[in-house]
Amino acid sequence: MTNAELTRLAVQVATEAGRFARDTRRAGITVASTKTSEVDIVTAADTATESLLIEALLAARPHDGVLGEEGGLRPGTSGLTWVLDPIDGTVNYLYGAGPYAVSVAVVEGEPNPAGWSPLAGCVHDPVGERCYSAGRGDGAFCNGRRLPGPNLVGLQNALLATGFGYLAGRRRRQGRVLAALIADLRDIRRSGCASLDLCSVAVGLVDGYYERGLNPWDHAAGALVASEAGAVVSGPQGRLPGVDLVVAAGQRLHAELLARLDELDAAADD
Ligand code: IPD
Repeated sequence: MTNAELTRLAVQVATEAGRFARDTRRAGITVASTKTSEVDIVTAADTATESLLIEALLAARPHDGVLGEEGGLRPGTSGLTWVLDPIDGTVNYLYGAGPYAVSVAVVEGEPNPAGWSPLAGCVHDPVGERCYSAGRGDGAFCNGRRLPGPNLVGLQNALLATGFGYLAGRRRRQGRVLAALIADLRDIRRSGCASLDLCSVAVGLVDGYYERGLNPWDHAAGALVASEAGAVVSGPQGRLPGVDLVVAAGQRLHAELLARLDELDAAADD
């Protein structure tokens, strides 16, 4: 399959899963369990939506692997792995406030952001009816229209999106960094959905995005959408985006933000 065909498959399954998640929500929500902390929830819809995605993907491509937020890694034999966040923005989904999305990416190589190569991805927002998609080398689109790419601003004029993890210690540190950073910017937004934050950079709804502690499924598809739209997306010190850090922005803002985060992170250790 070409990257364009993989993208079409990602769009098809993410759209169906998005409809399912939205309709399921109308019927009521149950918190099924918690994960890394009391506030890191799994709803029955998260697990059911992930099962739906896996069934559709493996019906089309039985030899691929799957790395899902809820089910973990199910290795394949083809060298490709689908990286799934069935409902990114689970807390928004629970409260019915703020966006959520189904995030589907397919990567080549090790199913680990430190070494993988993303081939195609889709972030589908079933409430806003926005379907972001990208194939490596093919550009990035929303509902079939090519994305304009990031706004070209410096740190001082930047509207940044960010997010917070579910562990108290990590949040305290994220809060210390943000408390200092916010004085250097236009302002901050916190949507509660990392995959859509990355797409918002691609479409210019925010100027940049950063977050530490993201899981692979939170950024796999959104990072491809942002980079195919022309954003620079990286981890710290030019490394690939991953759990240490994901920064996405136009070239100048990316460089300024990365440097400032480096300084603030060192100070947050004190
Ligand atoms: C979370 C969201 C949130 C981000 C968190 C993620 P989830 O994903 O993307 O915006 O700040 O770090 O864990 O739990 O809703 O799938």
